[in-house]
Amino acid sequence: MSETSHKHPDGNPTPEQPKWRQDFPIETGQDEYVSRRDFAKFLVLTSGAMAAGQVCIIGQSMARRDEGPPEELAIARDDEIGVGQVVRFDYPHPDEPCLLARLDDGKLLAFGQKCTHLDCAVTPDLPNRKFVCPCHHGYFDALTGQPLAGPPRRPLPRIMLEVRDGVIYATGVELQT
Ligand code: FES
Repeated sequence: MSETSHKHPDGNPTPEQPKWRQDFPIETGQDEYVSRRDFAKFLVLTSGAMAAGQVCIIGQSMARRDEGPPEELAIARDDEIGVGQVVRFDYPHPDEPCLLARLDDGKLLAFGQKCTHLDCAVTPDLPNRKFVCPCHHGYFDALTGQPLAGPPRRPLPRIMLEVRDGVIYATGVELQT
């Protein structure tokens, strides 16, 4: 349909329409119309972007796997962490937050802080021996890292710990099942 033959609400041709209507000669009814081709283009572009993101994530994780076992990290002095206290640290990479906690029996435990549902940061609720994800009410056992309730299905990664000469070290990551 040419611009001049376009039907406007007042019946006048396009050159006699106000400037805004000449610039945007689309009627309200057509405004939400999306052609099949535009929709296919949109699907191809978004699918392509998602595929590229996945390839990037896989590439990063493969690169990290090739790095070999993670190096030890000194987290804190053993006598600095009292019962019920929690220390946040990053391990084995700077973008991987973890929590080190001393439970009421004196036991030290550490887990990755990213919720296994959608990566929100879990927070400790040590009196109830849980880690809580505020995003969708996910709950994890603070002793084992296993999911207890909510959307998460996989346990938190456990950080292996060693205490030597009064210093607590992270020595590895155990991806639990
Ligand atoms: S991100 Fe933790 S429950 Fe959804």
